[in-house]
Amino acid sequence: MTIDLRPVVAADVKPLARICYEAFGALHERHSTPRDFDSLETAEMVIGMLASNPAFAGFAARVDGRLVGSNFISFVDEVAGVGPITVDPACQGAGVGKALMRAVLEEASRRGVQQVRLLQEAINTTSLSLYTSLGFEWRDSVAIMLAGGKGDSACRPMRSRDLDSVERIAERQYGASRRREAESALAAGLPAFVRESRGEVTAYLLPGFMGHGFGPDVESMAALVGHAATTAPAMFHRIFAPLSQGSFYRELLRRGCRTVKVMSYMTVGPYTPPRGVWMPSILN
Ligand SMILES: CC(C)(COP(=O)(O)OP(=O)(O)OC[C@H]1O[C@@H](n2cnc3c(N)ncnc32)[C@H](O)[C@@H]1OP(=O)(O)O)[C@@H](O)C(=O)NCCC(=O)NCCS
Repeated sequence: MTIDLRPVVAADVKPLARICYEAFGALHERHSTPRDFDSLETAEMVIGMLASNPAFAGFAARVDGRLVGSNFISFVDEVAGVGPITVDPACQGAGVGKALMRAVLEEASRRGVQQVRLLQEAINTTSLSLYTSLGFEWRDSVAIMLAGGKGDSACRPMRSRDLDSVERIAERQYGASRRREAESALAAGLPAFVRESRGEVTAYLLPGFMGHGFGPDVESMAALVGHAATTAPAMFHRIFAPLSQGSFYRELLRRGCRTVKVMSYMTVGPYTPPRGVWMPSILN
């Protein structure tokens, strides 16, 4: 069997979205876990967005000329994030996933990007083994939650003039800028919130699968989560709480957030655990 890899092109979006929908669907059904991709249309929207955004690199795998899987890597900011990787259930266990993971790691190295991260489906022993064998280290377990809580008067929508503060907060807490992620969310009209304290932006949250957030303490982040739950559309109500931050996770539970599943935060390259209270996403 020859596995042939090439960059994803627009004509691949529909067949790759079907594979993505079916691969995750089969996994989630097997484990009675809610689906990440609730419909084929959602998968088409996500794969279409990743394939058309020049800040992402995507690879399609073919076997005997037939598309069998894909993988993506985000180069939006300086820390790269891998995923989603999916292989046609009929073709799994034959080395396609490993080839697709090597492709994104080689692309990162070609671009001189050292820090690569991902969120691994904890229920998937295949991807855990695959990533570990390629050098990824487990760093944390992350609860994927349905956001809950109340609106907060210190929270408001993010504006472009907040981007300097957003960049400073990420650099201080995460050790790297995530300005372009926030900028792209604003440009796309996606929900994004900041929290102010004494007239200064001290915390922010981009809710949803592709967001992230940083704040100085549990109260600020939990308030942003509540604010997002009451003002953002339902598809942005997924939020990510690292379990190493026990008091934050407990506070989210107390405020009505509900745990959906657990994922593993894994990294390759230099890694310093973020400071303060932080929320990752599938991007990193
Ligand atoms: C995860 C996924 C992309 C892997 O693709 P794949 O083509 O099946 O993977 P490969 O055949 O390349 O296997 C890679 C490694 O996984 C491990 N592996 C494969 N089958 C395994 C099994 N049944 N149990 C444990 N480990 C397994 C092995 O370490 C293997 O490496 P090896 O061949 O050197 O031993 C694919 O299973 C998939 O699409 N799953 C559904 C979507 C998903 O969960 N995506 C990942 C989210 S984190």
